[in-house]
Amino acid sequence: MASLKSLQIVSGLLTFVLLLTQLLAHAHVVQAENIDAADTDRFCYPESSKNTRRSCECSNVSASPWGNRALRIDCSYKDYRAADLSLVLPLYIDSLDLSWNALDSVPILSSDSLHQLNLRHNNVSQLVAGNFKLLTSLRELYLGWNSIGRLEAGSFDGLPHLQVLDLAHNNLHLLPGKLFAPLLVLGTLDISWNRRFNESGEDLYTGLGVNWKLSTLRLDACSLGDLHLPVNAPLKELSLRRNQLKRIPAQLPETLLRLDISDNLLEELLPEDTFNLTQVRQLFIEDMPLLQRVMANALAHVDVLETLSFQNSRQLSHLDAEAFGPTMTTSTSTKKTALRSLSFRGTMLRTFNSTLAPLFTQLAELDLNGLPLQCDCELVWLKQLPVETNGRCYKPNRIRGMLVTSARGDAFSCDTWPRWAYGLVVLSLIALSAAGIYLIVMGLRPHRGVTMRRKVGAGSPYARVTIEPNRQENPHY
Ligand SMILES: *[C@@H]1O[C@H](CO)[C@@H](O)[C@H](O)[C@H]1NC(C)=O
Ligand SMILES: *[C@@H]1O[C@H](CO)[C@@H](O)[C@H](O)[C@H]1NC(C)=O
Ligand SMILES: *[C@@H]1O[C@H](CO)[C@@H](O)[C@H](O)[C@H]1NC(C)=O
Ligand SMILES: *[C@@H]1O[C@H](CO)[C@@H](O)[C@H](O)[C@H]1NC(C)=O
Ligand SMILES: *[C@@H]1O[C@H](CO)[C@@H](O)[C@H](O)[C@H]1NC(C)=O
Repeated sequence: MASLKSLQIVSGLLTFVLLLTQLLAHAHVVQAENIDAADTDRFCYPESSKNTRRSCECSNVSASPWGNRALRIDCSYKDYRAADLSLVLPLYIDSLDLSWNALDSVPILSSDSLHQLNLRHNNVSQLVAGNFKLLTSLRELYLGWNSIGRLEAGSFDGLPHLQVLDLAHNNLHLLPGKLFAPLLVLGTLDISWNRRFNESGEDLYTGLGVNWKLSTLRLDACSLGDLHLPVNAPLKELSLRRNQLKRIPAQLPETLLRLDISDNLLEELLPEDTFNLTQVRQLFIEDMPLLQRVMANALAHVDVLETLSFQNSRQLSHLDAEAFGPTMTTSTSTKKTALRSLSFRGTMLRTFNSTLAPLFTQLAELDLNGLPLQCDCELVWLKQLPVETNGRCYKPNRIRGMLVTSARGDAFSCDTWPRWAYGLVVLSLIALSAAGIYLIVMGLRPHRGVTMRRKVGAGSPYARVTIEPNRQENPHY
């Protein structure tokens, strides 16, 4: 009984406290509104830009359940330089878009409410120490599409809440050690399209101080020939598109769920490439310029894989019958795999061994668009798949261009003789008929002994003439 009563008191108290905070929040809003109207105007509609198209767009958004104000300011495409901006941002500002301007440095802005700052598509070439230290609440910082090449140590000081950092399409190469160390809760880091990033030499985690708990890392087009990431870092997504990798790096975090290794220099996919990718659910091996073969067991270890794509790997012409492991062959104990979506769209594969049938039958999606399929008896099993693959026959000619599913089953036949045997048969037929014709002609010819002699008698103009050689010219005769 007593405990019930105390519970009631506690809950009553809680309600009261909640109400109080709500009231206080509202009071704060009411009181502040008058102060910041001028402040907002100063930023959104500056005197210098009156009646021009250069003023920013400011809009109210309600961001919190308390109905607190949050201001979103869009200053994109205004041709601003750093000197044009007032450095103290309005109260309640939540996001500021300064993309597509002509900023050649990052203005040292000040706000304790700004969550998102977009500086993409400017002309920033360097960051200085403490560049963002007055933006204490910043969560997302977009610096992509500039030409940032020089960063002072401490460029990211004072950003303990930053979760997303975009540095793509810049010129990062030599970076100060522990550059990213102040970013304690960084979750997403994008360094893609920094063509000289391979020269940085430093290890991302130990050298550059990237937050250990980073979950998404993008390193596309960084000229990487190799990469080592700590096996026990809890990274979830990694994109390594368009680098110079000849093998899938052997040492990658074990927790990876999504790996994009597209557009690299692998020629074959081997078992050791995927050996350590035990948790990967989405694997992209697309746009490979050199990949020709997927070898036996190359994909045998990725048990939890759900999505796999080889799309547009234009040289890929061989998929081993046991690429997904040998257990698929024994139909009695079909290995249950998680694979749901598989794409070979735009590759050069001509056929699939029927040992793959149990696997393909489980798929919810199988894309065979644009394959030069050899529709013979080896491939007739493909007609039975429950999903529409959009695969079309390329050979034999009489069903070229037809969907595998709509071509007649009996058109999927196999030549039991080799090609040269056909040639031989044709040749012997020709020879035989020539001989036949000769015999027939000979048979129909009038008999020499009977008719000819009668017509070509001695008195006939066709009579045989014997020309005697001149004895004088040939004295030896
Ligand atoms: C935002 O709303 C407040 C009142 O809630 C108003 O005073 C202010 O002018 C508005 N600002 C903009 C930019 O719409
Ligand atoms: C960008 O900055 C460079 C120097 O860092 C300068 O030469 C170039 O003119 C600038 N481009 C624009 C469009 O302002
Ligand atoms: C970085 O990549 C470039 C371009 O591929 C290459 O010339 C250079 O040698 C590489 N540098 C290092 C340190 O790997
Ligand atoms: C798998 O990872 C371990 C530990 O990093 C490494 O020693 C091994 O060489 C890797 N295996 C393959 C086949 O790459
Ligand atoms: C299909 O794979 C099995 C097992 O690897 C092999 O014995 C068979 O010859 C293959 N069939 C064709 C047509 O390649």
